[in-house]
Amino acid sequence: MTLAQRLFRTKPADQIVAEGGRGEGGELRRTMTLWQLTLFSVGATLGTGIFVILGQAVPKAGPAVVLSFVLAAITALFSALSYAELAGTIPVSGSSYSYAYATLGEIVAWVAGWCLMLEYAVSVAAVAVGWGQYLNSFLESLFGWELPAAIIGAPGQEGGVVNLTAILIVVLCTWLLLRGASESATANAVFVLIKVVVLVFFCVVAFTAFRAGNFTPFAPMGVAGITAAASQVFFSYIGFDAASTAGEEAKNPRRDLPLAIILSLAIVTALYVLVAVAAIGALPWTEFDPESTEAVLSQLADLATGSTWAGLIVSFGASIAIASVVLTVMYGQTRILFAMSRDGLIPRVFQKVHPRHQVPVANTLIVATFISVLAGLVPLGQLAEATSIGTLFAFALVNIGVLVLRYRRPDLPRSFRTPLFPATPVLGTIFCGLVMAGLAGVTWVAFGLWMLLGFACYFLYGYRKSRLNAEVL
Ligand code: ALA
Repeated sequence: MTLAQRLFRTKPADQIVAEGGRGEGGELRRTMTLWQLTLFSVGATLGTGIFVILGQAVPKAGPAVVLSFVLAAITALFSALSYAELAGTIPVSGSSYSYAYATLGEIVAWVAGWCLMLEYAVSVAAVAVGWGQYLNSFLESLFGWELPAAIIGAPGQEGGVVNLTAILIVVLCTWLLLRGASESATANAVFVLIKVVVLVFFCVVAFTAFRAGNFTPFAPMGVAGITAAASQVFFSYIGFDAASTAGEEAKNPRRDLPLAIILSLAIVTALYVLVAVAAIGALPWTEFDPESTEAVLSQLADLATGSTWAGLIVSFGASIAIASVVLTVMYGQTRILFAMSRDGLIPRVFQKVHPRHQVPVANTLIVATFISVLAGLVPLGQLAEATSIGTLFAFALVNIGVLVLRYRRPDLPRSFRTPLFPATPVLGTIFCGLVMAGLAGVTWVAFGLWMLLGFACYFLYGYRKSRLNAEVL
């Protein structure tokens, strides 16, 4: 085999599916229903994007930020349709990593898996870092307590030593994950219910202070403002693909994964547009602060009611929202590593399944340690953009994967077919490219360095240990 042949060898989709669920020492358990899968994706999606980033995006677009949310949703929708098709065709745990392995070759699959680490592990660390701040503002408004700066910031942040609050939320979620996938899904369902109720509560409160005049002029910053804000709020849609990492624990993956992905995107889009309309109706767009990192929705709720109890409820919702992002995204990361380990590209410890709990225990503990160190010690503001670039890259690969698999394996059973083929995956790829092009140069440099590290790991380990080697030699 030549080097190029080895790098671009694919793993047959049927073989990937046949191996699903099996790890060393035990099997994963198929317990998740359509409802739980949908809430898993909603859990991973609804978070800092709507509670915080909305406030930063309003000054860019004015009231037309509502359209920015729709635009970002359309970008996400193209990729969501591609995810739905591949998740229904290759319903395993590896998400884009496994889809790329079946369609584009081992090295591309590795790149996808490496990008997913940005989307999952690094983003979860960034999100966990913010959790301490919500907890702090919640405790402060409720009891007048303030947590010491030393434990809610990383070194380099105001007075920060170790971000213990970030580590605390990671530890709590790890405990839930170790109890089992179904238990985690149930806890997540409760969290999601709370955050949705809190967002609806916010809308009701904000609508009592609604002034239609706040919507004129509608697009003071023009089309450029709308698209700039759309790139920023795209972050709030990341996570709809989380259900695709549960392929080996879903009861009826072929039917339920595509539905869960699309349903979750529809739910969050409806909520986001509603919240954006309510927020602008309650406060003139010129009064939003682009630099604010506070949960703007709780300040708005206070303003609308003229008291602090409403903001308190919203802060509580924000802390629960973030807890469920941490839980579901950590889960996703462990399952992607599980799939990569089964293929031999990373060490075998990641595919060991605990015989009784039927979860990958060592894998979960390693991921939790990695995320805790990142979240506890590294100020992560900069890394949030790197998260978006990695995610968009993985999304683009999934869109291309749909095109390739339809051409190479038209015979495979597909429970869902993306409509208007090939227009949707082609547009999906182009849209991902456009949003990536809008990201800052420094983000591209960080991404390039991350990829170099990835290639070094691949050639030092995965290239030699790949299970496809053993099968060929
Ligand atoms: N979409 C997730 C959030 O907004 C990442 O927090």
